[in-house]
Amino acid sequence: MNYSTTIANEHFDHLLLNAGGIFCESVDQLEKIQHAPGAGAVMTKSATAEKRAGNPNPRYFTYPDHHNTINAMGLPNLGIDYYLDYVLHHQLTLPTILSVVGLSEEEILANLKKIQASGYDGLIELNLSCPNVPGKPQIAYDFDTTDHLLDRIYSFFTGHLGVKLPPYFDMAHFDRIAKILNQYPLAYVNAVNSVGNGLVIDPETDRVVLMAKGGFGGLGGAQIKATALANVRALRLRLKPEIKIIGTGGVTTGRDVYDHLLCGADLVSVGSQLAIEGPSIFQRLEDELEAIFAEKHIESLDQVRGKLKRLD
Ligand code: DOR
Repeated sequence: MNYSTTIANEHFDHLLLNAGGIFCESVDQLEKIQHAPGAGAVMTKSATAEKRAGNPNPRYFTYPDHHNTINAMGLPNLGIDYYLDYVLHHQLTLPTILSVVGLSEEEILANLKKIQASGYDGLIELNLSCPNVPGKPQIAYDFDTTDHLLDRIYSFFTGHLGVKLPPYFDMAHFDRIAKILNQYPLAYVNAVNSVGNGLVIDPETDRVVLMAKGGFGGLGGAQIKATALANVRALRLRLKPEIKIIGTGGVTTGRDVYDHLLCGADLVSVGSQLAIEGPSIFQRLEDELEAIFAEKHIESLDQVRGKLKRLD
């Protein structure tokens, strides 16, 4: 299959990448994704202005079924300078997206100003949806704040920006966020981040499985597939065509990638199952996807992307 896909000035030869946060904190991990067969792009860990240790352990839990996770990492990262140096000065094999975050509006703006001043011309993802920093709400659930922030960003910023969104659960919220995002020259949206503030209980001990926030954390893996697909589909139906979509959530098989494509995803990222299986997952997923295309006699991505069928 020809997977050729473009977002802004970046060209992708394969559809799959790591979801933000997974396998992307250190240069060592990032390089493993760069060289993983089947991978189409690399996402860096969301960077704050200064490096952060994140929340106390245990902060990441894989369910015994090996397909689901809950995390309260709390944005451990090595700071914007580290990731900016990586994208500017390393020999990158794949298109690499620089993810940024901030614990305040001013920190976000400062990070973007620093990136702009560096001359970096690649894709940037602004994480508006981390559920795991105590006392810091997920920005994109506050529509007025999101609009105000994007307005401030686009008063100076000329780079290629995407935003990482939290899952929405109400049609009125899909309408509201799409209306805001459509006002700006965004390159793409990434839907979805983990489903925030779930709670997992260990049946042996009757205790929560995470230390921070009383055990509340972001859900990932197979359990969030339906929510992720709904968000990709709802956003594709509402966003202007220039805004592309990276579909994230619930990808454990090639069929899951196919379903994200049907809903309108341009690229698909893999989080929990990448953490479980490691970077060999990209080739497995692409092989499974190829088998589906062969069985259905699909010869071009255009036959699938956004082509979900309704019953009426
Ligand atoms: O589930 C998540 N965990 N989403 C984020 O955006 C950040 C990450 C963390 O570091 O807590």
